[in-house]
Amino acid sequence: MSAPAREVGIVAVLGAGTMGRGIAQVAAVAGHPVVLHDADPQQIGRGVARIESTLEKGVRLGKVDADARDAALSHLSTAPTLDGAVAGAEWVIEAVPEVLSLKARLFRQVASLATEDAILATNTSSLSVTQIGKGLPAPGRFLGLHFFNPVHIMALVEVVKGKSTDPAVLERAVRFVRGLGKEPVVVADSPGFASSRLGIVLGLEAIRMAEEGVATPEEIDKAMVLGYRHPMGPLRLTDLVGLDVRLGIARYLHETLGSEAFRPPALLERMVAEGRLGKKSGRGFYDWHKQP
Ligand SMILES: NC(=O)c1ccc[n+]([C@@H]2O[C@H](COP(=O)([O-])OP(=O)(O)OC[C@H]3O[C@@H](n4cnc5c(N)ncnc54)[C@H](O)[C@@H]3O)[C@@H](O)[C@H]2O)c1
Repeated sequence: MSAPAREVGIVAVLGAGTMGRGIAQVAAVAGHPVVLHDADPQQIGRGVARIESTLEKGVRLGKVDADARDAALSHLSTAPTLDGAVAGAEWVIEAVPEVLSLKARLFRQVASLATEDAILATNTSSLSVTQIGKGLPAPGRFLGLHFFNPVHIMALVEVVKGKSTDPAVLERAVRFVRGLGKEPVVVADSPGFASSRLGIVLGLEAIRMAEEGVATPEEIDKAMVLGYRHPMGPLRLTDLVGLDVRLGIARYLHETLGSEAFRPPALLERMVAEGRLGKKSGRGFYDWHKQP
């Protein structure tokens, strides 16, 4: 018996930032025609350039063969308008900033432009999928697909079931994620899902410990790496994710879940106010100018 054909419908990716370009890359590598769109035309150019350089690096390291790189790039196109991006797409994946009103507005526009059977997915890392999709004409075809950064390396994708997501759509999404070479985990639409909610608690507690002088950031991280076999300590990870991003998630989870475990530590608030955002600003818990 031959294996069932893999789905290779058109994938539109909205937002060509860190996550959007990564999602576009893995979808193109998996054989989907991909259309990358961003409200900022310069970001589209940057996104494509980053995809090219990441694939090129893969070839240099022997992880991607040159034919696969060429095939992936031939599947990739860009669209300066939303209309051009979503027309004909089977999957529309949104990766714009983590602002509920922005995402909700974008999906309402998408719903009026996409084909009737398109599946719409948000890459939100913590917001309510149900809230984002509220008022859509076909909420059964709306769900969350939460990819991790860097997308081409991280295996996990949380498939988030909104209140109205159709079970058949959820199943298709699981197959779609597997077709991208990723491992799906199906989760309910609960703040922070199964990943961010746990990960952020560890990060916030580590910040409180650094604040109280329990140990230095290096020592706290070393304890988790050597004592618990974490691949990276929680403070180094916070630097990589961005302190502002983690502060936003902590505030949201504190508000929605009401647990003191998510109350943002004063040190985190202060560092963000001072512009110490982690790797992207050069300084966070570590001095990234000195890091390898
Ligand atoms: N960065 C991470 O580690 C990470 C991990 C998992 C999930 N996420 C989630 O993915 C989403 C995107 O995060 P990111 O880090 O890629 O952000 P980013 O800031 O790198 O990229 C967002 C992009 O969206 C574009 N944009 C803004 N408004 C738009 C619109 N109306 N239409 C089209 N494009 C628009 C911006 O120009 C920008 O290029 C967020 O919801 C975030 O929470 C991020």
